[in-house]
Amino acid sequence: MKITICYFSGTGNTKKVAHRFAEIFAEERHEVKLLSIDGITLSKTLSCEFLESIQDCDLLGIGYPIYAFNAPPIVLQFAKRLPRMAQNKHTFIFNTSGEPLKLNNISSLKLRSMLKRRRYNVTNEYHYCMPYNIMFRHSDEMALKMWQTAQALIPLDVREIIDGQKHLPERVRCGHAIAWAMRCEQWGGQLNGRMYRVSKECVHCGKCVNDCPTHNIRITKKGKFKFGGKCLMCMRCAHLCPANAMHIGMFNSWKVNGPYTFSKPKNEEEKQKYNKMLTKAYEQYFAAAEQRINNANK
Ligand SMILES: Cc1cc2nc3c(=O)[nH]c(=O)nc-3n(C[C@H](O)[C@H](O)[C@H](O)COP(=O)(O)O)c2cc1C
Repeated sequence: MKITICYFSGTGNTKKVAHRFAEIFAEERHEVKLLSIDGITLSKTLSCEFLESIQDCDLLGIGYPIYAFNAPPIVLQFAKRLPRMAQNKHTFIFNTSGEPLKLNNISSLKLRSMLKRRRYNVTNEYHYCMPYNIMFRHSDEMALKMWQTAQALIPLDVREIIDGQKHLPERVRCGHAIAWAMRCEQWGGQLNGRMYRVSKECVHCGKCVNDCPTHNIRITKKGKFKFGGKCLMCMRCAHLCPANAMHIGMFNSWKVNGPYTFSKPKNEEEKQKYNKMLTKAYEQYFAAAEQRINNANK
């Protein structure tokens, strides 16, 4: 089977998941193509590489991080640019988010209706809890546990897709209305993006400018940073800034700087530092995943 996986990832969590999907499909001897949708908004149409890979494949995968219980605007813009298929295209969705809340089930509603209109038939959708890149920092131990759980679940999810076993998220009452209301975050993010500032700690490495998925950051001839109106609030510039120099407007107190190591913490102090959010919901998420993994291994 030919599989194309298109994904957006602000700070790397969804990218890790997308690569794991590709790895497992490849182990099952399928031909996989992985494409990041960074930069697609710079043109009104998809590039030939995208169009050919999508037309050509037997199965299309779309991955994204959940933003305010929705798919990021860049993913909706990607869907808008998708060609209408002559026949139904078998499609699956995967997403990552910082919390295992049931409300995250509504994130794909708008995307799925856009895909349906273009004859992309979504039969499977999977959600993985990955560490927060905004609001608060998970401990590295928790991040590792989340990643190990996703790594163990993905082979089971791939098996379901290959076996033609449908898997869609449980419905949430008034889901469409809630998701619609929460999409105000998208223009709020654009507005807030104009309030970004760079502090004197900046080492002028240019990482934020080069890595921004919408090319929203530029440096003037006088060396000043300028922020446009296309910010996705993906946190890439702030999360991965080596000098922690990015000030993210109204949400600066929610900034999470520095990539997760996804390794065991070095000492107990480090382990305890960020563990304040080990709530019941996470315990339930891990317990359900463990049960599923154990059942599959029986
Ligand atoms: C603007 C924004 C909004 C977010 N909204 C949610 C949310 O509604 N629910 C949630 O559980 N996580 C939310 N998150 C957390 C991310 O979905 C999560 O950290 C994700 O794994 C990041 O993936 P990435 O590294 O591929 O960008 C949000 C993150 C950002 C930056």
